[in-house]
Amino acid sequence: MSIWKRKPLAQLLAEAADSEKGLKRTLTAWSLIALGIGAIIGAGLFVRTAMAASQNAGPSVTIAFIVAAIGCALAGLCYAELSSSIPISGSAYTYTYATMGEFLAWIIGWDLILEYAVGAATVGIAWSEYLNNLLINVLHVSPIPYSLSHSPFQTDAITGEHGMINIPALFIVGIISLLLIKGIQESAFVNGIIVVVKVVIVVLIIIVGWNFINPANHTPYIPASSIFTDEHGIDHKFGGFWGIIGAAGTVFFAFIGFDAVSTAAQETINPKRNMPIGILGSLAVCTVLYILFAHVLTGVATVEDFRTGGKEASVSFAITKYMIGYSWLGQLVTIAILAGFSSVILVMLLGQSRVFYAMGKDGLLPKAFSDLHSKYKTPYKANIAILIIVGLFAAFIPGDIVGDMTSIGTLFAFSLVCVSVIILRKKEPDMVREFKTPFVPLVPILGVITCVLMMAGLGWTNWLRLFAWMAIGVIIYFAYGKKNSVLNNPKE
Ligand code: ALA
Repeated sequence: MSIWKRKPLAQLLAEAADSEKGLKRTLTAWSLIALGIGAIIGAGLFVRTAMAASQNAGPSVTIAFIVAAIGCALAGLCYAELSSSIPISGSAYTYTYATMGEFLAWIIGWDLILEYAVGAATVGIAWSEYLNNLLINVLHVSPIPYSLSHSPFQTDAITGEHGMINIPALFIVGIISLLLIKGIQESAFVNGIIVVVKVVIVVLIIIVGWNFINPANHTPYIPASSIFTDEHGIDHKFGGFWGIIGAAGTVFFAFIGFDAVSTAAQETINPKRNMPIGILGSLAVCTVLYILFAHVLTGVATVEDFRTGGKEASVSFAITKYMIGYSWLGQLVTIAILAGFSSVILVMLLGQSRVFYAMGKDGLLPKAFSDLHSKYKTPYKANIAILIIVGLFAAFIPGDIVGDMTSIGTLFAFSLVCVSVIILRKKEPDMVREFKTPFVPLVPILGVITCVLMMAGLGWTNWLRLFAWMAIGVIIYFAYGKKNSVLNNPKE
């Protein structure tokens, strides 16, 4: 029994061939780009841009978007190689099982809960904030009371009311989990419509908002270094180099989801050409939109606005306060954002259930997680377990905390994916690679450096949370996974 035992590549590829039955290669480069944008544009852009500007970088949040995009592009090139050579569910967890052995695979699988499950909770919390915005500004009815739409760790800055439980966030996560159990596939058509709506809204805000930019808000573009203490008493490095790096760690969340493109490798026509176009193409489109959007948002409203008002619903706040005559745009944004967030939550919960399914099959999690529903053929027990985990985070933890935990967890996963490429090139030099990451080991090494830099920018409290999360994972592995792993206990 060894915790470093690797899953033989032949076995993985056989599993891949088995799971390939029934899947048709229908996705083109364009459909992959649409899939990517559908999963990418969400709370990261509409909520965390203002947060990063207020806590870390001011207007230079645009530079932070460029730093985050470089890190994602480098990791994306590594994802493209692994997903086209090992096209099987489980993503980074599966690649690590083949390259670095069971223990690290478990670590990465446990870490992916931060990316997908905690990420879904983050977007659910943002959804809740925009729902209240819809009730107040569009439907002109009473909002859901503060105490029932915020975590117990939050207090209203104006009324002093405390939060108790975030019911709308719990509601949206519950509804989407039920949809997934029933196996409702997000059809290419619906995804296409949501993508068009999201992109049109972003472009509209850029074009209309450009006329409302107040140059004073952009001066100085990179604020001088200082320390900003938020309402939880946490210090953030504001301004200068570390302000930009901290902001990059925060807005990195806006790019999460492009790796979802890699999970469609088995359904892609000519993956060698289309996979990198899909991954890097959706990243490129989003990067350009993000930079322009951030430039406009920080030009329209002040850093002080983002610190005191608006919070999660900062974009519609900025439009309503400053873009006089465009309140209809604020209303449209609210509706489009609610739809857009729902599709992001769906993709994340789907990704999480695939990872749990793979881990259940391998025996690292209870086998029940890989049980399929007799009628719907979905891993419903995994979905229910995920609903409980995500629900707890969504109901009781503030959005900025879960968001940063998602970012640090994902950056850690990306770093391991980069390292996997280097290791697999050495250990399995003859493996058929549909797409090869260029300039190995330079690109993966630069990928690791950029990701670790962004992790550093997230500050020690998030490192502490990451370590605590991982420590719980290590305990569970030795108490359960090691004893029940199929690879380590072949007779069972
Ligand atoms: N990138 C996704 C979002 O920003 C996770 O919501």
